[in-house]
Amino acid sequence: MQTILITGATSGIGLALAQIYQQQGARLILIGRRPLETLSDPLFSSDVYCQADLAQPDCHLTIDRWLAEHQLEAIDLVVHNAGIGWVGGTDEHAPADISEMLQVNLKAPIAITHQLFKRLERAGGKVAFVSSVVSQLPLSKFGVYVASKAALDGFARSLAVEWRGRVQVQILHPGATNTAMHEKVGTEEAVYSKYPSAESVAAKMERSLRRNKRHVAIGFANKMIRGLSLTVPNLLEKVMRPKPAASGPNQVTPHVVVTGGADGIGAAVAKRYAAEGQQITILDVDDARGEAIIAELGDGAAFINVDLSRPESVEKAVQELGSRPVITTLVNNAGISSAGKFEELPLDQMLSVIDINLVGAIQLTTRLLAEKRLVVGHQQVYLSSLSKYVGYPGAAVYSASKDGLAAFARTIQTAAIADGRVTTVFPGPTRTAHARRYSPDNSREEKRMPPEAVADAVFEGAQAKRRFVFPGAGAKVFAIFGRLAPRLAERAMKSTIYDKL
Ligand SMILES: NC(=O)c1ccc[n+]([C@@H]2O[C@H](COP(=O)([O-])OP(=O)(O)OC[C@H]3O[C@@H](n4cnc5c(N)ncnc54)[C@H](OP(=O)(O)O)[C@@H]3O)[C@@H](O)[C@H]2O)c1
Repeated sequence: MQTILITGATSGIGLALAQIYQQQGARLILIGRRPLETLSDPLFSSDVYCQADLAQPDCHLTIDRWLAEHQLEAIDLVVHNAGIGWVGGTDEHAPADISEMLQVNLKAPIAITHQLFKRLERAGGKVAFVSSVVSQLPLSKFGVYVASKAALDGFARSLAVEWRGRVQVQILHPGATNTAMHEKVGTEEAVYSKYPSAESVAAKMERSLRRNKRHVAIGFANKMIRGLSLTVPNLLEKVMRPKPAASGPNQVTPHVVVTGGADGIGAAVAKRYAAEGQQITILDVDDARGEAIIAELGDGAAFINVDLSRPESVEKAVQELGSRPVITTLVNNAGISSAGKFEELPLDQMLSVIDINLVGAIQLTTRLLAEKRLVVGHQQVYLSSLSKYVGYPGAAVYSASKDGLAAFARTIQTAAIADGRVTTVFPGPTRTAHARRYSPDNSREEKRMPPEAVADAVFEGAQAKRRFVFPGAGAKVFAIFGRLAPRLAERAMKSTIYDKL
């Protein structure tokens, strides 16, 4: 008998999937946020149902306790299905709702997977992530949702390489389905009632879950959409991008805000823009280094302390930016990493990577858009990573954060609200303290690109309004290699990084 755990089993696709597995005689573990007494379906009983609110950061521990109480030491299949949606302009998405979405859709599945590793390994089991066909689409009305699902894809991709031979990893991409999710975000019934039923989608998902294929788009139309989104992403962006409403300002003093500008690539970028006579504000958590860099940059430069992992700190920084000139260029550069085998790394450390690299960048950008601190025609620059193209076994959560950031950037690019330009940068190994700290092997450090060269590529790419920048010939070659032969690229990453950990 298979032991199967499904999150978000109280409604929609999760409930329909649970019903299928119950008919097959599986031992079910159903996770939901609602109290058991409120659930009318006979499927739910105290022996099967674990109440855990995935919006809570300790949800994985609640589930772990429940499993221990029920003496469940091995699990054959975990389906991370719970998710929440949101529709609207990214600048209208409230900070608390953004945090909740990234917690439920991304951080909870990461935390639960981490907690359940041993139980999955004991069973030689499988972990499946319910992503979405929109994860690779630059849909401006679902910016944070797209980022959460793209990050989940990136995480699962690298985890699959790490766990090969021990626990299978699969990513499912359903498309629009007739479930309560649409009602919850305020879509009219006349629209979502036309979508396929949860039962038919769950039946297809169950068939896919029996296969070993890593990525499965659910249904023919979604296979086509996903195929297009992967093979001709630029064409889709061209089709989807609304025309900019107005060109850039003529009389505004250029003012560049660089997050994580106290060190590494951020500091080099700040210096590069300052060399062009642009005013700089550095946002960083490191007071001493931040102050030292602005002293180097001279008059007009400013430093604002921010801890991007704390929304209240981001809000304070946004308010402080109110006394600076309007922003012409925002460089979302701040990032940390956490390198090691996923199941061995401390969970808190990995979730901080998501909080700083992804949640913080999204919170800052959305608040600046909402406060109209970014001028019409402004430039946004996002420092993603080459890992978007080649995967990053040994830093699966870092990889998630950078995939999510690149996906968010694309949704901003297609959003009329941004009314600016977006450049996403995919640096490869760079000679910074960051790389030194997280690399398993620093013997070839001199081969890494100097941060000043990355800064030049950022500046020139942004000036030329390029959508994507790959600093250096090596990064370009690897990105092409990763796109044409993703499995080979992952294998190369595994042997050069993961196997040396
Ligand atoms: N519907 C679509 O068009 C569509 C398309 C592509 C992908 N997906 C994905 O498919 C998955 C299932 O969605 P669905 O369409 O079946 O939506 P749904 O009917 O709203 O089901 C979502 C499930 O997640 C649960 N959930 C939400 N927040 C939670 C929390 N904080 N803690 C625990 N459980 C929580 C919900 O609980 P409650 O019942 O208490 O709300 C519900 O059981 C999601 O990951 C979604 O992103 C859906």
